[in-house]
Amino acid sequence: MLNNQEIKKQILKILKAHPNQLITGAYIANTCHITRSYVSKVVKELIEIGYYIQIKNRSGYIYQSDNKVLDQEYLKKNLKPLMDVIVLDKVDSTNNYLKILAKDSKKEKILVVANMQTAGRGRLGRNFLSNNASGIYMSMLIRPTFNLEYAKKLTCLVASAVSIAIKKMTNLDAKIKWVNDIYINNKKVCGILTEAATQFEGGNLEYIIIGIGVNMYHQHFDDDLVKKVTTIEDESGQIYSRNDLIITIINQVNQYLENITNDIYMEDYIKRSLVINKKVELQKNDTTQEVLVKGITKDGELEILVNNTIQKVTSGEITRMVLLNE
Ligand code: BTN
Repeated sequence: MLNNQEIKKQILKILKAHPNQLITGAYIANTCHITRSYVSKVVKELIEIGYYIQIKNRSGYIYQSDNKVLDQEYLKKNLKPLMDVIVLDKVDSTNNYLKILAKDSKKEKILVVANMQTAGRGRLGRNFLSNNASGIYMSMLIRPTFNLEYAKKLTCLVASAVSIAIKKMTNLDAKIKWVNDIYINNKKVCGILTEAATQFEGGNLEYIIIGIGVNMYHQHFDDDLVKKVTTIEDESGQIYSRNDLIITIINQVNQYLENITNDIYMEDYIKRSLVINKKVELQKNDTTQEVLVKGITKDGELEILVNNTIQKVTSGEITRMVLLNE
């Protein structure tokens, strides 16, 4: 008796051999020696991990494409430098998964990508919606040799990399909302959560986990989210491969990391900022004020104009943006 994984492979083989053709449930059931309801269950699982298969009620299935499916081998081959790649169907959070792994593993770099997170986390204790195969939910472990001064700017480095990667692949103008959200047409498309662990002795950084979530494919957002968030598909009208965007993002992050002592990523960050010369609502320690953003420093601080003087802000959250001439 074949197990579920083997059945999945067999059904895929049958469907892929006849792309865009109707294959009956009975044919698949007979070929694999399983029931039709088991075929239906497995096809639904395949759809959940990104295969585009049409279900024709009572008649069968039509295989369309695997453009949305995560491909571990393809990722491994194309990531620079080479690193371990783990692809999961479902996990609570890829950041949590790597935290546990980091304790037992001595590997320099590991990438974990999941089709779905049941408890995806955002900054400031928020949730990050991580529905079935509709986004990129990934975390990369690095063991930094750079000092703490650079670690603080890592979030900016990652934001620059994501923004550039989206532009490279889709030509969409992906902008950075300080500190580390990526926006397209004034709606959020990506969030970044970096978490660090320090060694007990010496206070050095033991590892950093870089968590990145990108909304890729059209999906249902609740009323409170629909005006604030978007997806790459909604903005471009196209279905891009998650594998290719993952590779473009991670290779760009690694390229910046190799040259972390020069400030090119900060120059890119400033160039791609969404908030410079905008009036914004800034929330800090339970107070909110409307301020004009004059710039961002090479250290990633926000420069705001208050009472005709420039103040530098290192932390806080921009909760609303207003165009200067509005
Ligand atoms: C934010 O918007 O505040 C940050 C969102 C970060 C989401 C990513 S998805 C992969 C990784 N795992 C998590 O639990 N969070 C990050």
